Amino acid sequence: MAWHPVAETADFAQSPVIGRDCAGRRLALYCLAGRYYATADTCTHAGARLSEGEVVEGFIECPAHYGLFEIATGTAQGAPVCRDLATYPVRVAGSRIEVEIL
Ligand code: FES
Repeated sequence: MAWHPVAETADFAQSPVIGRDCAGRRLALYCLAGRYYATADTCTHAGARLSEGEVVEGFIECPAHYGLFEIATGTAQGAPVCRDLATYPVRVAGSRIEVEIL
């Protein structure tokens, strides 16, 4: 297990979701009401980048076919998405956001 610095809190000034490459993975990072979350950035339906989607009340909407995932749990919310997203622990150290990847 290792914690990896992936972003700064200021990186969310323009959007509640951003994409980052970290430890060989593509991650989507979220800031919701002052809390931070991380999921895989690749939609489990057909591979679109979720970090280019829209955050809607705790869910990320895929930009390709509008599938929804719950951000906190990665849970797929139904067709066209039926496989959950991987999620990752997140911690904040000062202004630095870190993600734990096994
Ligand atoms: Fe995400 Fe189709 S690629 S819903």
